[in-house]
Amino acid sequence: MAQLSTFTWGIFPYICLTVMIVGTIYRYHSDQLTWGSKSSELLEKKLLTSGSMLFHIGILFVLAGHIAGLLVPIEFYNAIGISSELYHGAAIALGGLSGLIALAGISILLYRRIAKARVRMNSDMSDYVSDGLLWLVIVLGLAFTLGYGLLNGPYEYRATVGPWIRSVLMFQPDIALMAGVPLLLQVHIALAFVLLGVSPFTRLIHMYSMPIGYLTRAPLLYRTSYGYGGSYGRATAARRPAIHQPRTQPQPEPVPVPAEEPATPDPARPFERALGESLDPVAGSGSRSRR
Ligand code: HEM
Repeated sequence: MAQLSTFTWGIFPYICLTVMIVGTIYRYHSDQLTWGSKSSELLEKKLLTSGSMLFHIGILFVLAGHIAGLLVPIEFYNAIGISSELYHGAAIALGGLSGLIALAGISILLYRRIAKARVRMNSDMSDYVSDGLLWLVIVLGLAFTLGYGLLNGPYEYRATVGPWIRSVLMFQPDIALMAGVPLLLQVHIALAFVLLGVSPFTRLIHMYSMPIGYLTRAPLLYRTSYGYGGSYGRATAARRPAIHQPRTQPQPEPVPVPAEEPATPDPARPFERALGESLDPVAGSGSRSRR
């Protein structure tokens, strides 16, 4: 049991984080053309719009809550006068609400991927792995926050999981901190690490390029972005001429060409003079300039 605990909380997180970092670097260098979350909007739009919107809004708040709860030490909250009751009340209300919104979103996306034939036919195993894992991790997190928290009272993870994750990030994993953590939360955390480990090999890769431009870009990159008001649309529109306008280049001013002066026959070169007259008997020596 001690060995399992050492592996799970002292070695496994590093395996997952290493695969995540090395996998991301590898994919960046080997497969940049597929970097991103390829759009399936043409295959089905209604469920995608609602599911994606709900999932992304919810998950951003969930992850912000994780940073506030796990990376900020409990001493900070005590120092600024936020009591344990206030903290956990807010965590259950805000964390629970964000988690429910994210769950609604990922459930819609997962349903769409399985139930809509056109989307299903264009999905591969990595899509099911990422969507399925996301769904599971979110369900377990919510089950803990809402189920466990409401049944047993708030669990002070800021004294166990929080210091443990910080010890992992400092490369000094304190495995003992995870010993008394409820199993539900342990499974949530272990699966979250699996999710991080597989992320470079799925469409989740797009989260590492900080896709803030996604918020304002045209939904499909290979469709014209005319008419989109966001920064992406404006930037690309500014680079292109308006539709149906001929691509006219500014023409340079015509340079006046000086009139040709008839070449003066060179009395010193009789052969050339004779040749010129034979080629152009009217103008005589004009042949020289025409050569
Ligand atoms: C190693 C990483 C992670 C750790 C240590 C961790 C830990 C925790 C803890 C301690 C809670 C309870 C919060 C509370 O009751 O106030 C929680 C809840 C939750 N977690 Fe995680 N988690 C991790 C990763 C993730 C990931 C990657 C996701 C989503 C994809 C996620 C989704 C959730 C959700 C939805 C909840 C419930 C709502 C909330 O508190 O925001 N977690 N997690």
